[in-house]
Amino acid sequence: MGSAAVNPGAGWTWGYDAYAPERERLVETLCTLGNGRFATRGSAPECAAGTTHYPGTYLAGCYDRRTSLVDGRAVENEDLVNLPNWTLLRYRRLPADEPAGEWLTPDSDELRHSTVRLDLRRGTLHRGLYFQDARGRGLRVGHTRLVHMGDPGLAAQRTTFHAYGWSGEIEVESLLDGDVANTGVERYHHLESRHLSGHRTVFAPGGVAGLSCRTGDPGHLIALAVRTDTRPARPARPARTTGTSTGTGQLYRLPIARGRTVRVTKTLALRTTPAHTPGDPLAKAVEAAGEAPSFPALLAAHEAAWQRLWEEGELHVPGEPGRVLRLHLFHLLQTLSPHTADLDVGVPARGLHGEAYRGHVFWDELFVLPYLDLHFPDVAEALLRYRHRRLPAAREAARRAGRRGAMYPWQSGGSGAEETQEVHLNPRSGRWLPDHSRLQRHVGSAVAYNVWKYARSTGDQAFLYGEGAEILLEVARFWADSAERDPGLGRYRLRGVVGPDEYHDAYPHAAVPGVDDNAYTNVTAAWVLARGLDLLRELPAARRAELRERLALDEGETARWDDVSRRLHVPFHRGVISQFEGFGELAELDWEAYRAGYGDIRRLDRILEAEGDTVNRYQASKQADTLMLGYLFRPDELAALFARLGHRLDDGTWRATVDYYLRRTSHGSTLSSLVHGWVLARLKGTGAWRYCEEALLSDVADVQGGTTGEGIHLGAMAGTIDLVERGITGLEAGPDGLRVAPVSLRQLPRFAFTLCCGGHRGVRLRVLPGRLGVRVPAGPGAPLPLVLPGDRRFTVPPGEERWFPL
Ligand code: BGC
Repeated sequence: MGSAAVNPGAGWTWGYDAYAPERERLVETLCTLGNGRFATRGSAPECAAGTTHYPGTYLAGCYDRRTSLVDGRAVENEDLVNLPNWTLLRYRRLPADEPAGEWLTPDSDELRHSTVRLDLRRGTLHRGLYFQDARGRGLRVGHTRLVHMGDPGLAAQRTTFHAYGWSGEIEVESLLDGDVANTGVERYHHLESRHLSGHRTVFAPGGVAGLSCRTGDPGHLIALAVRTDTRPARPARPARTTGTSTGTGQLYRLPIARGRTVRVTKTLALRTTPAHTPGDPLAKAVEAAGEAPSFPALLAAHEAAWQRLWEEGELHVPGEPGRVLRLHLFHLLQTLSPHTADLDVGVPARGLHGEAYRGHVFWDELFVLPYLDLHFPDVAEALLRYRHRRLPAAREAARRAGRRGAMYPWQSGGSGAEETQEVHLNPRSGRWLPDHSRLQRHVGSAVAYNVWKYARSTGDQAFLYGEGAEILLEVARFWADSAERDPGLGRYRLRGVVGPDEYHDAYPHAAVPGVDDNAYTNVTAAWVLARGLDLLRELPAARRAELRERLALDEGETARWDDVSRRLHVPFHRGVISQFEGFGELAELDWEAYRAGYGDIRRLDRILEAEGDTVNRYQASKQADTLMLGYLFRPDELAALFARLGHRLDDGTWRATVDYYLRRTSHGSTLSSLVHGWVLARLKGTGAWRYCEEALLSDVADVQGGTTGEGIHLGAMAGTIDLVERGITGLEAGPDGLRVAPVSLRQLPRFAFTLCCGGHRGVRLRVLPGRLGVRVPAGPGAPLPLVLPGDRRFTVPPGEERWFPL
């Protein structure tokens, strides 16, 4: 696999051996450190935000709402707020009897060498720089950063300076910079970017500086305190402290002798509270920074926390794909860690790694929860609870749309209200265009699907019968109420929606947005309705009665659910499932001509719009849409769903459908190659690996051209891990144990991972060519039931490992 990064061996490091300004934002994103509570981009400590560098620190769930004037209209946006920069450190040489040198940065002419290393096992980031001036005087600088996985309110950065061929002093300024804004994404530059106000600074004994500020709506109080330590200890006090209106600086002059090393450590304590909460987070942050352990002690505890995480989350795949998968897992665990289980947050599509999509939550948890269900079920449950807490907002949205039930938002943040922008910029044409992507109502089915799958995988009936049932039933109700009966067709229809494809937001020349009967939307809606009915049957009688009463859900309404679930319209054309009604009548695009003309046609929608045309006229999809059905459902499940809807979906029709859309998709989303890789691998189709590989490369090679610098693609990252763990193994954890039905993928002949299943933590699966090993850890639980292809049933007792031929 060709990634720009170097591989120094063990598969546990990610790194870069030269400084390349044009790549720096990508490096910052991929070297972000986080602990689920907050994350800091892997930016160079020497640099504030500018065209090359973009430091950013983001707190999970910390959004702020502002109004901007865009193209003459007021638009509101809820952004994940960039917090003050705690990493900033300026330094320069003060050789004896000479004027001070320049402040040194990776952009200095004196830079001779630079390395970046992310240590995935330990969760640390190392940046090394070597500077040399015209007289040959050298300075080696090494930064080691951690964002504490054990104590989610702490982070630290230790810098060492080593002098070569000179003696004198180093002037070092440790800064806490609150003069920051959300300016990480060029396309959003016209939007209001300032979210922090009311800055207050303090200095405390022991080298501690503190800064507090607040966001506007809803108000969060944010306090950061940094303790700066220098070693050798003299001088312990800064030569100068500066408190500006938005930040602090502590300046040290540190004697350094030829061949000797001095160290400066910044230890951060971050404390936040909702505004109007009693207590002063600044005082708490200052106290915590003052009391925080030394860097070595922090590091030891941090490494121990990571070790535990790796044990629970382990996925071992040999070679370069394995190293990329480990990087993906690292970023997933930093965005959604066990600390997330204590928070009220959703799955940010771009991680806590940048500002693309303004930190919003989409449907991407569909690609993230399966991994968490199997490894960190508490975190999965917390993410579902985030959705449940926003059920009132989803009900309100449905009500305003004239519907019953719950209509979950396409994009959302803190409040659960719809946050999708109303207009978006096509950077190619410079035109502002209406954004109808909010019509992606299928997001509600994704939420319901996640509830159901979580409960099946973990056996957590309490959640399913409690909050889970409320979500599922309210989404089902929304679908039943949205379905319009078409007497001509003798079927129900869901009209005016947008499918996962996103490109098609209207029929050509139509006055109203949306398309009708998106097959993915309709089939998943039918699935939700059917599961809603199953759940009602399965619920204990008292809970069923309670829910029927509370939701005012009478027999007449559920009879309609049954009818709709069997008679939603699924369009077909020329022997394949139609992406939506009328898709087959749209014009065919000359794909070859567009590829030849533009090279990269992933954002075909923008290309066509800039040409004065519209993608709505063509059979051209941004990403997997109909084929998402093959991602969510096994062939037998899908056939049963279609049969319930009165259609026969045989193998031939499905294969023809896969083939059809493969030739008509531009892969404008990183989710696309993931889903295609999955679907083809399950079909043992040719070319599966090409898509899997593209999914693996999504961020490390920035395949969407410049988007990784704005944040990771968390869905694709998590999805690739899940592709190995569930896609290739055909694994399903359910009430009857573990079902495994591997397909062989030549490029991934062997791999191993641990998961939670059947009440056991740390069940280890090893897949080798033609063989499967299952080890159940010793413990009090029952033997683990295992179902292999051909309905071969076995059990694996605790404390044993069994091997099975495949
Ligand atoms: C994709 C969506 C996805 C979003 C956030 C978009 O480009 O089309 O399916 O939810 O990115 O990742």
